[in-house]
Amino acid sequence: MTISPNDISRAAELLKKGELVALPTETVYGLGGNALSDMAVAKIFETKGRPSFNPLIIHVASLEEAMRYATFSDAATAIAKKFWPGPLTLVLPRKRGCAISLLASAGLDTLAIRVPAHPVAQALLQESGLPIAAPSANRSGRLSPTHAEHVREELGNDIFILDGGACEFGIESTVLDMNGDTPAILRPGAIIAERLPSSLGREQGEGKLKSPGQLESHYAPNKPLRLNATEAWAGEVLLAFGAHATAETNLSPTGNLREAAANLFSMLRKLDASAATSIAVMPIPNAGLGVAINDRLTRAAAAHDPHIPRA
Ligand code: TXA
Ligand code: MG
Repeated sequence: MTISPNDISRAAELLKKGELVALPTETVYGLGGNALSDMAVAKIFETKGRPSFNPLIIHVASLEEAMRYATFSDAATAIAKKFWPGPLTLVLPRKRGCAISLLASAGLDTLAIRVPAHPVAQALLQESGLPIAAPSANRSGRLSPTHAEHVREELGNDIFILDGGACEFGIESTVLDMNGDTPAILRPGAIIAERLPSSLGREQGEGKLKSPGQLESHYAPNKPLRLNATEAWAGEVLLAFGAHATAETNLSPTGNLREAAANLFSMLRKLDASAATSIAVMPIPNAGLGVAINDRLTRAAAAHDPHIPRA
């Protein structure tokens, strides 16, 4: 453990500038960015090299702060009071007007949120005053890092790492979905199911353990999508990418993929709410973050294609 107050202020400054930092939590190391910034969150996906957008966990300093962003039922408040700070993540409805990046929750109306117990994570949350979006600090498809050296092996020397030594738990937080009527463990983790209240139905055998594959964790627009469009046809509204003289909604007029990722879900939602009957999307280069953008768009288009069975 080699952390000084200077390191914390430097990390906080980086977060405020939209840069990423690796931080220790009691579970695993996280790759953190300002959760209020779509661009910082796009950088997280870019750095992890993920081919698709997965919703991320938002880390906040306290239950009071969590309540600014998510709607807590009485049951959710009780569980949060019992386990926070600690390795339990709650999936809850986003509050109306919630300032957290829509990209961080992959366009969903829910938020996965937790208050970490690790003193370094706590110090950074307090010093920066920001909510921090942080997936595990590994490259996509690899093991979660539990030591600062693991993070360096995964992400190289360019990323600022707060070295808090070994993580206490070494496995990720338990993800508990309290969004619907029946709470469900979406991901088993550091808090074993037996410690969660029996009111969750688990002890009666009613508790559902959904595997990530079963998870309906993807936002898709209600309107049909037409991909690789060069212009909008009658009844369509155009989602442009790159230079375009007239399109009102452009993922990135300069053709910047990070900007396009940052804008993707908020622009899809905006066009979904428009008067058009369908959305025409211009081609996105299939490299870097473009792979994840195209993955999302292809799924959204397939959701309306009668020839492709819905997942
Ligand atoms: O221990 C942890 O949770 C670590 C440390 C850094 O806090 N973080 C972590 O984040 O494991 P990540 O991004 O690797 O895992 C996020 C998990 C995924 O299983 C994701 O599907 C789920 O949380 N998740 C996030 N937002 C969700 C949402 N709105 N609805 C359902 N599941 C969600
Ligand atoms: Mg992970």
